Amino acid sequence: MLTIALPKGRIAKETLMLFSQVFQERFLFNDRKLILQTKDFTFLLVRNQDVPTYVHYGAADLGVVGLDVLEEKDDIEIVRLLNLGIGKCKVVLGSECGKPINYLKPRIRIATKMTNITQHFFSKRAIAVDVIKLYGSIELAPLVNLADGIVDIVETGTTMKQNNLQIDEVIMESSAYLIANVNSFFAKKQRILHLQDSFAKIINTSINDSLQNR
Ligand code: PRP
Repeated sequence: MLTIALPKGRIAKETLMLFSQVFQERFLFNDRKLILQTKDFTFLLVRNQDVPTYVHYGAADLGVVGLDVLEEKDDIEIVRLLNLGIGKCKVVLGSECGKPINYLKPRIRIATKMTNITQHFFSKRAIAVDVIKLYGSIELAPLVNLADGIVDIVETGTTMKQNNLQIDEVIMESSAYLIANVNSFFAKKQRILHLQDSFAKIINTSINDSLQNR
């Protein structure tokens, strides 16, 4: 039996589709249920940022999580197995259009959910920053002078556009990775490597198909 933590939302659906392709079986959560039990797998639906925690403590053998979350929680020990190529997004530095961040100020203020990534980014440039932790609606912060800029996730770019914000810089590109608990990786190595291999084949096939259809 393998237990797999999936982040609620689109990534969970796309991952379950990958499982369906590999095992020729339908994997679907019932309504609001957070556990899906099948013959060989237990799937858990958890908050995106919590996936590494479930995997690190061994509550799940495997997990699917964005590279951005892994970079933010870089102190957690897990095994990165495979880039699944789904859930693509960017972590960006942004500011209000026509009101660029003034780097001449002794300290700038940046609002974000991703405090570690933000702190590292500005430390590397030796820019003094006050990082303001928010839990959502990050785009609002520069508009009401809570912050000079934001560090946030951009997927389609719609939220930033509709709130009159611009991308100043792309800090990192992200997509979802298959990760494993360190002990599970050794104890259940064969099954995990088989799964990794099957996923890699499907991903490569779909990449080749899309290249051929261009
Ligand atoms: C994320 C992110 C942006 C938005 C980007 O927020 O923080 O606000 O998605 O998506 P877009 O580029 O496609 O517009 P989320 O939807 O998780 O909500 P939150 O603000 O409550 O964190």
